Amino acid sequence: MNPLSHRFFLFFLISIGVFTAVVVLARNLEYYILPMEERPFYERYNDLKPSGIESHGYGIIGTAMITIGVIMYSSRKRVRAFRQFGKIKHYLEVHIFLCLLGPVLVLYHTTFKFGGLVAVSFWSMSAVALSGLLGRYLYQHIPKNIEGNELSAKELEENGQKMLDSLHTTYALNEQAVKALRELGKPMAHIEEAGLLKLLWYLLINDLSQKRRIMMIRNTLNKYSVDKHSMKKVIAIVNDHIVFQQRIAVLEKVQEIFHYWHVVHLPFSIIMFVILLVHVGVAVTFGYTWIF
Ligand code: HEM
Ligand code: HEM
Repeated sequence: MNPLSHRFFLFFLISIGVFTAVVVLARNLEYYILPMEERPFYERYNDLKPSGIESHGYGIIGTAMITIGVIMYSSRKRVRAFRQFGKIKHYLEVHIFLCLLGPVLVLYHTTFKFGGLVAVSFWSMSAVALSGLLGRYLYQHIPKNIEGNELSAKELEENGQKMLDSLHTTYALNEQAVKALRELGKPMAHIEEAGLLKLLWYLLINDLSQKRRIMMIRNTLNKYSVDKHSMKKVIAIVNDHIVFQQRIAVLEKVQEIFHYWHVVHLPFSIIMFVILLVHVGVAVTFGYTWIF
């Protein structure tokens, strides 16, 4: 997928997600905010109660989306034979789309009423989906190759060196200029010993200060003779190199936290699915078979 089609693909997923979530909410908000005792008198009560044709449908579609999202990503990640079918990063994007919109639809299915054992499934699902946001953020700070597979420390060092070499060879920057640019990318001292909050703060600040960083690079480059046409390219390379250096500095820490993150994301998914199975079993036994 070229960058333009990839953008279009993401735009498409985000639009469908936001559109569906907003349209259903706007359509049924009046019902969702009614006190429980008044709901049975609402004109569309029979459709909107959790076992009603509409809300039951949201439960089934939402659950199907989550199930597909998990099976699809997990099999692509774990089954060797599936490695030939597309990049893992695209599978993760679809996982996030299905597993964010799915829980929203399940929320509409519950009509904001969380009773019985299945409430445990609901809260597990919420914990998984919310933890997913943090996981996604950490995941993006683990450098990967174009296929989306993690890079080894050796590959990282080599890539960083290639970037610096290209400043010498392709853009004819002298030793002094490269040294000055390297100084800009020095990671914060002792960051590799930081705790979770300090680390997240550091990542966030680095991500938000992109514009300031580019200005500093430009100011430094202005002191050296860089051909005007190459300026944009050189800035991009130096910026990438700085981001790269910062990621290398915290790589071990991020990987360690990401490892613990699985402890929330994976087991809570299992709890969610186990209780869901019981919930669906009971519903079908009681004759709630939706349109079937
Ligand atoms: C993660 C997925 C799901 C969650 C978290 C969930 C959660 C809930 C919750 C909280 C309720 C309301 C309980 C109450 O009245 O207090 C409910 C009701 C219901 N759910 Fe689900 N649900 C899920 C998926 C499904 C699926 C796939 C089906 C399809 C068989 C289903 C069928 C029903 C039915 C029929 C009711 C109404 C039960 C009644 O009124 O007695 N749910 N669900
Ligand atoms: C109810 C919703 C969700 C469920 C049940 C779920 C479940 C899972 C499972 C089981 C895996 C592990 C796959 C494997 O290692 O085989 C996984 C991976 C992952 N999920 Fe989710 N997920 C949900 C929502 C989300 C959301 C909303 C996000 C992000 C916004 C997210 C981000 C991730 C990431 C980044 C990974 C990759 C972990 C890795 O490859 O090491 N998930 N998810």
